[in-house]
Amino acid sequence: MRRGILSLLAVGVLATGGLTACGDDKAADPGSGGNAKKPKIGVILPDSKSSARWETADRKYLEAAFKTAGVDYDIQNAQNDKAAFQTIAEQMITGGVNVLMIVNLDSGTGKAVLDKAKAAGVATIDYDRLTLGGSAAYYVSFDNVAVGKLQGEGLVKCLTDAKATKPVIAELNGSQTDNNATLFKQGYDGVLKAKYDSAEYVKGPDQWVAEWDNTTAGTVFEQMLTSTPNIAGVLAANDGLGNAAINILKKQKLNGKVPVTGQDATVQGLQNILNGDQCMTVYKAVKQEADAAAKLAIGLAKGEKGATSQKVTDPEGKREVDAVLLTPKSITKDNVKDVVDDGYVTVAELCTGDFAAKCATAGIK
Ligand code: BGC
Repeated sequence: MRRGILSLLAVGVLATGGLTACGDDKAADPGSGGNAKKPKIGVILPDSKSSARWETADRKYLEAAFKTAGVDYDIQNAQNDKAAFQTIAEQMITGGVNVLMIVNLDSGTGKAVLDKAKAAGVATIDYDRLTLGGSAAYYVSFDNVAVGKLQGEGLVKCLTDAKATKPVIAELNGSQTDNNATLFKQGYDGVLKAKYDSAEYVKGPDQWVAEWDNTTAGTVFEQMLTSTPNIAGVLAANDGLGNAAINILKKQKLNGKVPVTGQDATVQGLQNILNGDQCMTVYKAVKQEADAAAKLAIGLAKGEKGATSQKVTDPEGKREVDAVLLTPKSITKDNVKDVVDDGYVTVAELCTGDFAAKCATAGIK
């Protein structure tokens, strides 16, 4: 690590043509106080289409936390481009960040970035998605199996309320290369398997949606509904996938009749819930996630190792990673208001046009 910092400094000195002595370990080591390197945190977000959250919530809350702490930061979005992800990381490393926080696009390319950062003496944090086989100092996320469990339980509740008998369930999973999607599935399959095993429910089509792509999800779900027209419940892993399924259901006038789940409490997902087209979403208080990650990042940038109370196991790297895992919350028509009260979405965003009356009925003002 020490050598990495020094070589990075050497690059910096060469680039600026500086001639001041740089062999002083004190100047290079952020942990030694005194002449510590100025904290600078780099963040790479994954895209802006697989979920609205990355740009509307994560960026906003991270920025606010860094500003409050008065640290220098650079937040960029790779727009689902793995090559761009690497380039941004390299630019951030040479640009002098001492902490790099990433939401990987898959574990392989995430690991390449983490390894590069490590070699340059830059501390790393896996934000929201764990990089399997990676080397991040911390992992900050939600309890993602619990997210999936809420989705499974939410679907069961909606089907029970609708008095469905032997419903055929379709599963629209997230991206197979996102470890979170695997954990969500673990959570909801745990709930649904019991129902399949007892023959209360019938297992229908079950597919991953590459890169969480919403358009792909529509195509996949349309094929599902064509091959299995009696689908009676849809476990969709997030609001975007859920909305894609709802759009296909609408074509058959099945929206509102076939419960669909979601995740992220996006404006679109919440509006689908108010419309009765979506059964539930999972609210993850991203502010808590961003605040926790920012706190750890700022500590690392200053050379401190913060304490976390949890650990997760990286099954591929076979290592324990210090973690912060927050608690998700289930949202149905009855408590959409809670998301607004928490400041995650505003009345102005949610209660537009026809939704004004629906918001009023749901006690949102
Ligand atoms: C996140 C979800 C998000 C999905 C697609 C997952 O890793 O945890 O909140 O909906 O990626 O961006």
